[in-house]
Amino acid sequence: MRILFLGDIVGKPGVAFLKRALPVLVPHEQIDVVIANAENATDGSGLSPKDYRRIRECGVDLVTLGDHVYKKKDIIPTLEQDEHICRPANFPPGAPGRDHALCTARNGEPVAAFSLLGRTYMRPAECPYLAADRVLQVLAGRARCVVVDMHAEATADKYLMGHYLKGRVSAVLGTHTHVPTADEQILPGGTAFISDVGMTGPYDSILGRQVDRVLSTAVTFVPAAFDVAENDPRLGGAIVDVDLATGHAQAIRRLMLTESAVSAMQG
Ligand SMILES: [Fe+2]
Ligand SMILES: [Fe+2]
Repeated sequence: MRILFLGDIVGKPGVAFLKRALPVLVPHEQIDVVIANAENATDGSGLSPKDYRRIRECGVDLVTLGDHVYKKKDIIPTLEQDEHICRPANFPPGAPGRDHALCTARNGEPVAAFSLLGRTYMRPAECPYLAADRVLQVLAGRARCVVVDMHAEATADKYLMGHYLKGRVSAVLGTHTHVPTADEQILPGGTAFISDVGMTGPYDSILGRQVDRVLSTAVTFVPAAFDVAENDPRLGGAIVDVDLATGHAQAIRRLMLTESAVSAMQG
């Protein structure tokens, strides 16, 4: 079972490049299921129902979200009704939406995903460890292949979750910082891990936003609209191979796919 996991999809350039790249990448890498964090897909913050549909039509099977989950409030009915999308699992019980997402992969196998928010330098959330235990209890016997999107600012929060869940889930993969790390590994027990897979969006930017706006605000303290950048779109993610008999990860590979790499794949 081969999983493609993509980091935060950012704005129109992210969605447009996803639409171009996925139909090429999925057959090329023989991907069975695609999971993506889409918290920045609509105007750089949040996810509209229209962009959710677009992303799903591109070939994304499961959508996770992060701290920007409710920035476009009209996604809430989708979060409540559609089992392919979920809010972070460590939100309070009254927060709308499901705490995990489920689908059937291209090879017929059930796959589950859920996201957890870190607690360092982020708005306070409930305990991510207890939330993970709760979701895994619900998933027991329903999906052997489980992917956790660890949406956190601090690398330690991500490593802690990797070690908390090692041997219990197929992968703990980091998102939120929009900057990829080079620490991909298989933790003891067969859990694929990486601190951050990077974003799926315009890399000629400050974390997806236009450089001049962010820079002038940083230098002068005069606020400016942090519009989404446009150039050098890439898919930032990881490809994880999972043994279906056990749900354990066998391999993890970083992915940073540029426009020219997609063109080369097309031949
Ligand atoms: Fe993000
Ligand atoms: Fe985030």
